[in-house]
Amino acid sequence: MENSEQKKPIILSGITPSGMLTLGHLCGAISNWVKLQNSYDCYFMIADMHAITVRQQPAELRKRTLETAAIYIASGIDINMSKLFIQSHVPEHAQLTWVLNTYTGFGECSRMTQFKDKSQVHAENINVGLFDYPVLMAADILLYQADLVPVGEDQKQHLELTRNLAQRFNHLYSDTFKVPEPYIAKVGARVMSLQEPTKKMSKSDANQNSTIFLSDSDDVIKNKIKRAVTDSGSEVKFSDDKPGVSNLMELYHIATNKSISDIELEFEGKGYAEFKPAVADAVAEYVKPIRTEFEKLMKDKEHLTKILQQGADSARGAAFKTLRKVYKKIGFVQF
Ligand code: TRP
Repeated sequence: MENSEQKKPIILSGITPSGMLTLGHLCGAISNWVKLQNSYDCYFMIADMHAITVRQQPAELRKRTLETAAIYIASGIDINMSKLFIQSHVPEHAQLTWVLNTYTGFGECSRMTQFKDKSQVHAENINVGLFDYPVLMAADILLYQADLVPVGEDQKQHLELTRNLAQRFNHLYSDTFKVPEPYIAKVGARVMSLQEPTKKMSKSDANQNSTIFLSDSDDVIKNKIKRAVTDSGSEVKFSDDKPGVSNLMELYHIATNKSISDIELEFEGKGYAEFKPAVADAVAEYVKPIRTEFEKLMKDKEHLTKILQQGADSARGAAFKTLRKVYKKIGFVQF
């Protein structure tokens, strides 16, 4: 891999472990990561340092962090191919954040829409870490010289800031950071809430029936789908004015790989009463092998922790190299 001709482009992404992962994470993020593993040098993180910008229960955070790792692996992230690690295990994330802080304008962070939104939701705890969240994210990305960053719509502004910081630093000193590009998956499925299908499915939805968690049992999945909101009429048709049914069709498509037009044909002349149980069964079948593997991994936490320690060890090399370069350029005495 030292041979520069053989170097694959670098990808970095992560998820904040603030709740059990959902079918939305699997379809929107992780299953794309799985496909990218062959062609890219991938770093997949569990962003526990981002998680603490909102108050967490320590035992819960510890559990969620391991669960998130287990879901990555159960969904097909191959630890022999990709580097899978916990953010806080690689101290360079915090170290580079501090340096980048001094190149980031107060105004730049104030303009971040996620900060504004979260400040409203968590008005009782608008801490400096919440304000600094995008700079930590920039450090995550720039440490590994990532070429591409798969992110959702809600993180695009943070990636734009990352690019600005990289360019600013490179311009002030000399080429130090790769300026990363966002990676938008071509066929990214967008899974919507089962109860309010115009909203994205979210791990933090107050209504548990809105969300399919990857740890949900077959029965729970089936019940949630059977209770899902549908639209007026009874036709199984994909359209903007039928967000509930369209979302269920999307789920059926994800679970069975059948095309939307084939699904319309399959249920022509049949109502929701036949459609919904078919979706329920298909989605339960789809999630089952992932949940089974997840449960197996969670039974042996020692083994899982070891995998994560090895992941951090293999990520640190690249992180240290970048941090060293940065320290040198800004005038810190070499250690
Ligand atoms: N902030 C991201 C989220 O909540 C998670 C994340 C942290 C991330 N660091 C990152 C994503 C770096 C991409 C790159 O969704």
